[in-house]
Amino acid sequence: MLLKIAKTAALVAIATCTLNASDFNAQAEKDRIALVKYFEAKFDNPLKDKNVFFPYSTDDELENNFISGLKFQDFSEGNYSFSKNGRMSYEEIKEFPPTEEFIEYGEALYEKPFANGKSFQDCFPNPAEAGSMYPYFDETKKDVQTLTVAINQCLTSNGEKAWKTTKGKIAHLEAFFAKSAQDDEKTIDVKIDSAEAAAAYERGKKYYYTQRGYLKLSCAECHVQGAGQRVRNESLSPFLGQVTHFPVYRLKWAAGDKNNDGLGTLERRMSGCIKDQGQVPPANDSKEMKELLFFMAYMSNGMKIDGPDIRK
Ligand code: HEC
Repeated sequence: MLLKIAKTAALVAIATCTLNASDFNAQAEKDRIALVKYFEAKFDNPLKDKNVFFPYSTDDELENNFISGLKFQDFSEGNYSFSKNGRMSYEEIKEFPPTEEFIEYGEALYEKPFANGKSFQDCFPNPAEAGSMYPYFDETKKDVQTLTVAINQCLTSNGEKAWKTTKGKIAHLEAFFAKSAQDDEKTIDVKIDSAEAAAAYERGKKYYYTQRGYLKLSCAECHVQGAGQRVRNESLSPFLGQVTHFPVYRLKWAAGDKNNDGLGTLERRMSGCIKDQGQVPPANDSKEMKELLFFMAYMSNGMKIDGPDIRK
């Protein structure tokens, strides 16, 4: 009997030992490092490695339009990181960034009192923190928290109406938070400190790698294996760095908005991709969407936050 208890105790000790906090992110860290290596190799010398990485691109494109030798941080610029043509128009637009006025609207919203006298400052006392701490896994609620959902929770818990989660006020406020994080030189720093957080990461990863829609494509087929290739008139951006720069001002969104307000949230952008795959996207406050974001953010860990940015 005593021996049995001793054995059980020893087993429990081994189990707790192997499950110390630093181990919960072991798989995620392996995935992340492999992804960084993959992209640095892929965009090191695209013409030379054409057969490995770009069998469908022309030599002319690889030689004349590709920027080579990209490193980790470079990937935050999406398809402008590797395309010379894309970069040129990007830099032109950035001379007079259309995002400036939206950051100002966001700052005004941040300071404006709610009907009860409180304001966003009570929910998010430090704007640079608000722009860099999400998404994170809440160990009490056992659920991923995203900035978009946290903003609406702040509104409703103060008796205000929730905002639309795609554009308008929410994008303005997020732009102000992102700019504050950028000014404070914050980086993406997603932590996985429990078995539940690791499971949420795995579910997000599964979503990213699952083929869906009539084309049977996964996010990864376009943004990992496909990154750098063209789809109609767009070059596919690399997965690495895909979440560092939101909200984003898109020329396409501005053209379709009566106030020329082309700013949109990350959730809006991703829903667009999911719709293009011929699928109904998960709601922006759903577990699926939050876990997808959690996985995506982890994979860009260590990169600078550089939103809001501009895209075609
Ligand atoms: C058929 C190919 C295709 C698939 C599949 C696809 N996307 Fe995209 N995605 C695009 C294209 C084209 C763009 C616009 C060019 C670019 O920035 O990559 C884009 C852009 C994006 C952007 C914006 C990048 C930036 O720098 O602003 C994000 C984020 C994104 N996709 C996420 C996803 C996610 C998540 C999935 C899976 C749920 C997905 N995409 C599936 C083609 C695809």
